[in-house]
Amino acid sequence: MHATILILNGPNLNMLGVRQPEIYGYETLTEIEAACRSHAATLGLDVIFRQSNSEGELVDWIQQARGRCAGIIINPAAYTHTSIALLDALLSVGMPVIEVHLSNIHAREPFRAQSITARAAHGLIGGFGGHGYILALYALTRLLTETKENQQ
Ligand code: DQA
Repeated sequence: MHATILILNGPNLNMLGVRQPEIYGYETLTEIEAACRSHAATLGLDVIFRQSNSEGELVDWIQQARGRCAGIIINPAAYTHTSIALLDALLSVGMPVIEVHLSNIHAREPFRAQSITARAAHGLIGGFGGHGYILALYALTRLLTETKENQQ
């Protein structure tokens, strides 16, 4: 059976392609989703791909991942810098989390350099645009394989 990965996107990421393309690029979220699905298929992973502008909805989806998903890739967008609720949800699910940012949050305004949610993440990928999601899929696959090998 294929492992299922939850890929979550926070507020305003539905606007990718038209939103500050000089920072976030011209790729749309639909295109990023398609690239994730095609790479996930080659890695033998199933993907649930979601976006919400609402913090509570993101928390609900993280909670629902328990028992259904093997890992989470999340771009919490602006909630990265504000949301203890998302941090707590990510800490509660007991599975590997990778945080992704399209931009390099450390090369921008000082308030973006702090990630509250990253405390729950195994690692962070930022600054590679939509390709960061693909890098995260490979990183997660490796983490899941290592965990399986350690359990044998
Ligand atoms: C972002 C960076 C955040 O600071 C910002 O609020 C976003 C997108 C990124 O992917 O680079 O909405 O998470």
